[in-house]
Amino acid sequence: MIKPIKGFSKLSKQAKIEWLLSQYTQDAESSLEMLSGYWHNKQEVQKLHDEFIENTISNYYMPFGVAPNFLINGKMYAIPMAIEESSVVAAASKAANFWLDRGGFQAKVISTIKVGHVHFIWEGHNTDALQQVFDTHRERFFANSEDITKNMRARGGGVLDIQLVDKTALEQGYYQLEARFETCDSMGANFINSCLESFAHTWLSIAQENAEVLENTPVQVVMSILSNFTPECLVRAEVRCKIDEINEGSGIGNQEFVDKFRRAIRIASVEPYRAVTHNKGIMNGIDAVVIATGNDFRATEACAHAYAAKEGRYSSLTHAAVEGDEFVFWIELPLSLGSVGGITSLHPMVKFAHELLGYPGAQELMLITAVAGLAQNFSAVRSLITSGIQKGHMKMHLLNILNQLEATDEEKVQIVEYFKDKVVSFSAAVEAFTQLRGGHALNQVASSGSSHGGTTSTH
Ligand code: MEV
Repeated sequence: MIKPIKGFSKLSKQAKIEWLLSQYTQDAESSLEMLSGYWHNKQEVQKLHDEFIENTISNYYMPFGVAPNFLINGKMYAIPMAIEESSVVAAASKAANFWLDRGGFQAKVISTIKVGHVHFIWEGHNTDALQQVFDTHRERFFANSEDITKNMRARGGGVLDIQLVDKTALEQGYYQLEARFETCDSMGANFINSCLESFAHTWLSIAQENAEVLENTPVQVVMSILSNFTPECLVRAEVRCKIDEINEGSGIGNQEFVDKFRRAIRIASVEPYRAVTHNKGIMNGIDAVVIATGNDFRATEACAHAYAAKEGRYSSLTHAAVEGDEFVFWIELPLSLGSVGGITSLHPMVKFAHELLGYPGAQELMLITAVAGLAQNFSAVRSLITSGIQKGHMKMHLLNILNQLEATDEEKVQIVEYFKDKVVSFSAAVEAFTQLRGGHALNQVASSGSSHGGTTSTH
């Protein structure tokens, strides 16, 4: 068994790598060659990456693609997307082109409020007394956090509101200070958490000063933290066109397409197994933009799924309807994003993504990101109800399979050409490759018959 190591984070990068490779890898030399191959050749850029997190030993590359031709509120965008899944950028681009010819996407920010809580326990009996103490001293929360909120207030944001919330029906003695924030162009996590920690201190002081009124029962702060559930930080994006202009090219009639599309959305609205996959497809687009623009995709994910379940059953984030002679398809979801702060001004690729988008503010970024999610879902559902998903997906995945088989560039060109009018599957690709090599020369991956072969795929 490997002995635990003390003080790992204090070691130099080189010492960390040496220890790690000697303990956990078979061939330290080739592992080092691989790891160092991913180091940035500019020292200052590598240093940035080293300092983003603790114990950095190398960088993890992801493809950074771009989906052009997105017309959003009359403005053209090439949307940057960081994602490893083969077909996502292609699907986004396809939807962008489809809707470009039909008026593009319309999007609007509905609200931008974020929330955080001081979770505390007070086991006294007279909740009215607690409320009165809170009301009497409420202004002190604002006053004591003035230093923290000064810059944000200068930018037009700050603390909007603080309330005492009785949660004792959920947990004995459980109350919250619930605060609402406007964080302008920043995602605002650090700002919100700093404010909340200040509110907690202020609340403890107020409680101590009013001990008698509070039945000599202490306020015990459990934690002070923002909520990543931001149902009041909402964005809506939609597309619409005349039903007889759908003309989507797969051979099914316009009305049949619209009916089937709406049916697919209704199924995702009422059936959680389908809804999860449906929303996962939406998040393919959203996460890719969120990552490319240096935002927190874990927060975005958690929030989107909580919102999808807001009615008590997990449901679709997109909706479709017919209004008169028009087909309308829209998404509404909370997106808490920042265009300043975090790594937005540090990571060179993130900076480039913001430049590509014309340095949008947080609200414009919400619009773009919601559109990417809607576009992704449109492409997925369109394929699902017409050709099936595998045709397009496997076509994009073909190069991954060929890379696993260690095909040469020339072989790749020939096999891609061969599959132009055929459905790709792993076994069909192996077969074509085998034929090309004269019926042999299969490597380990192919001969193991793996359908995944080391690349994780959702299909
Ligand atoms: C694959 O990553 C996403 C899809 O499964 C989404 C969907 O089924 O709607 C294609």
